[in-house]
Amino acid sequence: MKKKITIAVDGHSSCGKSTMAKDLARAIGYIYVDSGAMYRCCTLFAMQNGIIAADGSINEEEFKRRMPEIQVSFKLNEDTGRPDTYLNGVCVEKDIRTMEVSAHVSPVAALPFVRAAMTAQQQAMGREGGIVMDGRDIGTAVFPDAEMKVFVTASDEIRAQRRYDELVAKGQQADFDEVLSNLRERDRIDSTREVAPLRQADDAIVLDNSHMTIPEQNQWLLKQFHKKTE
Ligand code: DC
Repeated sequence: MKKKITIAVDGHSSCGKSTMAKDLARAIGYIYVDSGAMYRCCTLFAMQNGIIAADGSINEEEFKRRMPEIQVSFKLNEDTGRPDTYLNGVCVEKDIRTMEVSAHVSPVAALPFVRAAMTAQQQAMGREGGIVMDGRDIGTAVFPDAEMKVFVTASDEIRAQRRYDELVAKGQQADFDEVLSNLRERDRIDSTREVAPLRQADDAIVLDNSHMTIPEQNQWLLKQFHKKTE
């Protein structure tokens, strides 16, 4: 049997990373992990426990103390055929995708003790290989030795339109300008933080999918996978 490799898919917010990473994992029989969902779980936990105040300020000392209580896991949803995110055993798939969580997640993901805890959980999930993980620092910090690294990007407006359409399709209230400014602000914080900032790994293959359909990008990714493993 062929050795199962580790695949890192990094890139900007809402560029379709998770869609392509999920589809690839399903096509090749690998595990898929959405590392952004893990940072969203930390944010939800902080919001639920009074660690983030209404003005967005974070009680870092309390957060650090309670960090060991946060366990994130994923379980396949038989109806959707996709993995759902669980925070301490409770399905939070819907709760972590709200605009409110999106508005607070980047400052949370910039905290070194949050990154250390999530990176350790991610590395434990990928110990055996056979994993596709998407995020911002997977190819640079979590799995710097990953056999295949992809860096995805697309224009700001196209990414905002995709996020907006996703929220509307889920029946959530959305304002395009708010979605666009949230996305730009997250990119700014994610790219300028001190620990594991969003950046392209030197050995990553770059994909600008601004003008690609989902089947086209899936085909491209599968071709890259076969190139790497043949
Ligand atoms: O991919 P997403 O939008 O669900 O990610 C949510 C936030 O988490 C995003 O603002 C950046 C952060 N993140 C990160 O810092 N490192 C990762 N590996 C994945 C996400």
